[in-house]
Amino acid sequence: MTEFRPAEPFDLVIFGGTGDLARRKLLPALYHRDADGQLGEGSRIIASSRKPLSRDEYVALVKRALRKHLPEGDFNGETWQRFADRLHHHQQDVTAEEGWSGLEGLLSEKPQHIRVFYLATLPALYGPAAQHLAAAGLTGGEARIVLEKPVGHDFDSARTINDEVGRCFDEARIFRIDHYLGKETVQNLMALRFANSMIEPLWRRGAIDHVQITVAEDLGVGDRAEFYDRTGTLRDMVQNHMLQLLCLVAMEAPTGMGHEDIRGEKIKVMRALRPITPDNVQRVTVRGQYSSGAIGGKVVPGYLEELGDGASSNTETFVALKAEIDNWRWAGTPFYLRSGKRLAGKSSEIVVQFRPIAHSIFRAESGVPEPNRMTIRLQPDEGVELSMVTKVPGPGHFKLRALPLNLCFSDTYDKRYPDAYERLLMEVLRGDPALFMHRDEVESAWNWIDGIIDSWAAREMAAQPYVSGTWGPTDAVRLLDRDGREWCQPHV
Ligand SMILES: NC(=O)c1ccc[n+]([C@@H]2O[C@H](COP(=O)([O-])OP(=O)(O)OC[C@H]3O[C@@H](n4cnc5c(N)ncnc54)[C@H](OP(=O)(O)O)[C@@H]3O)[C@@H](O)[C@H]2O)c1
Repeated sequence: MTEFRPAEPFDLVIFGGTGDLARRKLLPALYHRDADGQLGEGSRIIASSRKPLSRDEYVALVKRALRKHLPEGDFNGETWQRFADRLHHHQQDVTAEEGWSGLEGLLSEKPQHIRVFYLATLPALYGPAAQHLAAAGLTGGEARIVLEKPVGHDFDSARTINDEVGRCFDEARIFRIDHYLGKETVQNLMALRFANSMIEPLWRRGAIDHVQITVAEDLGVGDRAEFYDRTGTLRDMVQNHMLQLLCLVAMEAPTGMGHEDIRGEKIKVMRALRPITPDNVQRVTVRGQYSSGAIGGKVVPGYLEELGDGASSNTETFVALKAEIDNWRWAGTPFYLRSGKRLAGKSSEIVVQFRPIAHSIFRAESGVPEPNRMTIRLQPDEGVELSMVTKVPGPGHFKLRALPLNLCFSDTYDKRYPDAYERLLMEVLRGDPALFMHRDEVESAWNWIDGIIDSWAAREMAAQPYVSGTWGPTDAVRLLDRDGREWCQPHV
């Protein structure tokens, strides 16, 4: 049975504590941790937003949210009573000069509590919020600030936010969230790579032909069309989640699990990414936008229809690209990334394709041994699969066939998989930033992404239409075909 270590008593102020992220993710995550006894005695959750709400109204809002978003059977009266007692609401516009003394008064009731300010609001509010907290004298001691993704929409805006927040909080007290880093299966990458001695000698250009990372969704943009049209898949998925996955696969072994060890190695990978320029952008990237099609037998509208009558847009809902890492370990071993909406299924996985054997001793009729392949499934059906070539039993020909060695976590561990936010919130409360992004990581990632966006503009690269329910535009197939490779069919 797992033993849970409770966090020190804290005051967690959630700016945007009535919003979608708070209702769907943060509050259910905190409730689960409370159910396991991890929230220290007397700890408080103080939601803040512009709309005035009495404490009772906020408690009722949270109860509705938990009933809606917790899995069936996880809501129980005893935990709820304890959790409800922790809840408070404080009206505050983070852009306003006035009103901060009210928050200061509330927090000063518990001076010994660890203070955490979670900004679940638009990134443009991060700088003003930090400055107002500092002016109100709330940033001293061990106070921490949590910034939701995205930190900015390009390099310049990310740097501005980092500078503004950095003037009020030391880097070690700034927790930039990429919730992928809190996922159990993403954490398992560390165990896979660094707790198995057979992996490391093979984890390099000599043995690995290429790596594919796919994060596919079958849903469209729905009611987020307006937000999405200003963002696109490159900024929404590649700049953060996909580059983080690439870094965890490609980084050198850190000397330990400390935050400086891990983040230092990831930053080196970011800096080794070969820039994408107007000269190569058409060869190494693909942009797509979904048109209407059928998913699960149901006809779904195209992106432009969702955007509104007569809308026109060149925003991409799909990206595929070839990333080259210019260092000794990976030179000549490309990483192909693809992510999109309204694809043929919902799936996140990493495929490590090993090179073919150096020389085949088998006769032609045995068949050509398929190169080994390791598939790390992040969702659905989390696990690791390794294809191995075997001999088909029988007295006739010596026939070869690839079969999977399959490690399925849900079969092995009879446990609930905690949501990423449960782990991330606990790490903030414990003050360990290892699972959060350093400012240099965020800025290096934007620097690389800005190069792609500028090159798309320079070449006036249009988003290619693809039919909803497929795996993206045909140019994505050509991207690998040109290199004599093909995409693996994701598990859905
Ligand atoms: N939703 C998700 O699943 C998700 C996932 C990852 C990241 N994020 C990021 O998390 C942030 C919040 O997203 P969301 O979906 O929760 O947005 P949302 O549903 O629009 O909620 C925004 C929250 O911020 C408050 N707010 C807005 N302006 C404010 C101001 N000037 N001062 C104080 N509070 C203010 C709103 O309450 P009032 O209007 O009453 O002020 C509301 O509580 C965004 O940066 C988003 O990109 C969201």
